[in-house]
Amino acid sequence: MSKIINVAIDGPSGAGKSSLAKAISKSLGYIYVDTGALYRSVALYFIRCGISTSDVEKVVSGLANINLNLIYKDGVQNVILNGENVSALIRTNEVSMGASAVSAIPEVREFLLETQRQLARENSVVMDGRDIGTVILPNADVKIFLTADDKKRAERRYEELRQKDPSVTFEEVYEAMVNRDKNDSTRAVAPAIKADDAVLLDNTNLDERQTLERALEIIRDKAGI
Ligand code: DC
Repeated sequence: MSKIINVAIDGPSGAGKSSLAKAISKSLGYIYVDTGALYRSVALYFIRCGISTSDVEKVVSGLANINLNLIYKDGVQNVILNGENVSALIRTNEVSMGASAVSAIPEVREFLLETQRQLARENSVVMDGRDIGTVILPNADVKIFLTADDKKRAERRYEELRQKDPSVTFEEVYEAMVNRDKNDSTRAVAPAIKADDAVLLDNTNLDERQTLERALEIIRDKAGI
């Protein structure tokens, strides 16, 4: 069996982590693990229960009622929440903000930790998130911190959301993104920051293909493949 390789991709929202991670996984045949989907599914569970995602006490006690699984069909990740495939339901703005809120709760992070580590122990993965290089896989073979300037990231998010909801405005997308980044990077536990040994990849002026090429160079160099 060939050596298991773990690639960690962290960075703020809208930097293109998931597009890059998917492209890498396709190119190298590794499993793509979108860890944000786990936090989003936890948020969806509480939103559906009518529990505020910032009510720490209720969220912590409710975790015992959540069973989450990631399954892969034709290379695509599906997230299963208590037996239901919720992959298509977790991309709304409400769930994004809820995910950011629950992700600041240490018990939630602890609850999701083993699922992520187990996948990486058993498979070559390209895993994207906020704390993969710092907390989840501190010994990852390759760590990339992907970023781009705020306006550029908001533009990309705006284009994506506009397809689903034409009434959305650039200003609201920008504001929501900046707020969420602030939450994620300043929280006390596992803040979204670059690991010391991560390679910084700023793709403000790169398209998807150029970003992939640069990332593959970094992977070949660091993982020796
Ligand atoms: O990557 P995303 O937008 O799907 O993530 C949703 C939220 O989950 C994000 O605001 C922060 C949180 N998150 C996290 O704290 N740690 C991760 N590894 C992934 C996501």
